[in-house]
Amino acid sequence: MYRKIRNLASLIKQIIFKRKELRLYLELSSERTKASEYLERYNLEKIKTEQDNRDVKNPLWDYFQNNKEGNGIWKWEHYFDIYHKHFNKFINKEVKVLEIGIYSGGSLGMWKSYFGDKCKIYGVDIKEACKIYENDQTKVLIGDQEDRNFWKNLFKEIGPIDIIIDDGGHTTEQQRITLEETLSEINPGGIYLCEDVHRENNRFAEYTKSFVDELNKIKVNSNKNNLTSGVTNFQSSIKSICYYPYVTVIEKYEAPISKLSAPKHGTVWQPFFD
Ligand SMILES: C[S@@+](CC[C@H](N)C(=O)[O-])C[C@H]1O[C@@H](n2cnc3c(N)ncnc32)[C@H](O)[C@@H]1O
Repeated sequence: MYRKIRNLASLIKQIIFKRKELRLYLELSSERTKASEYLERYNLEKIKTEQDNRDVKNPLWDYFQNNKEGNGIWKWEHYFDIYHKHFNKFINKEVKVLEIGIYSGGSLGMWKSYFGDKCKIYGVDIKEACKIYENDQTKVLIGDQEDRNFWKNLFKEIGPIDIIIDDGGHTTEQQRITLEETLSEINPGGIYLCEDVHRENNRFAEYTKSFVDELNKIKVNSNKNNLTSGVTNFQSSIKSICYYPYVTVIEKYEAPISKLSAPKHGTVWQPFFD
């Protein structure tokens, strides 16, 4: 009899849980529908366009423009502003930069020139032929970015890194496995940048959207004058996730944080929000 009651209780719990899950699913789908409707209206508006709207001087852009001969670089033009925005704090620092995808070696030379004499560049490629791009400041590591053991051995050899640029094979599986094996090897203050996240309903984009949910988690300790929330390990170390056309950037805090807080500053307050 007791077992029957327990089974019934567990069944009721499951039904309630499933109903909650279903409601959440329907609510989220409805938000997605609203977003598509809004985008449809937005995309109907006329916008004046300009091809070159770079407003800051960008040494990477200049390097690319002047790279008319020699080792090839193949990048989408709008990536250069994204790189410069996130990477410029490392210029002339002892920074360790790893790019997956070497191809014709030109981008390795570009990073070396941009970050300066104190940087160390690591190039990863599946093709043995890329070994020729190794030099005093640049180490080439041959392997498959989709192989988790490759990454484990690589970090044993080179230690943690400051910047990772994934310009490798670009399948969503490669992108996900690479992120999972490398994000925790990035130093505080470091950057993870994944290129060529193409098309709607991209599986890698879908995967990283859950990271946005993780960043938004809140567990409030109630104190009216200073709201604080504890943080998960992810919130403690990840400062931001930025989405650009075809690029996802994840940035780490300079030092991990222990909480998020919203203190009140000032003495005069409206009564309606107590
Ligand atoms: C788009 S190209 C890289 C372009 C280069 N970064 C540049 O800016 O000119 C992609 C490179 O990724 C390499 N690649 C493809 N699949 C790979 C994998 N599974 N692991 C590592 N490298 C891979 C290819 O051999 C190729 O050289």
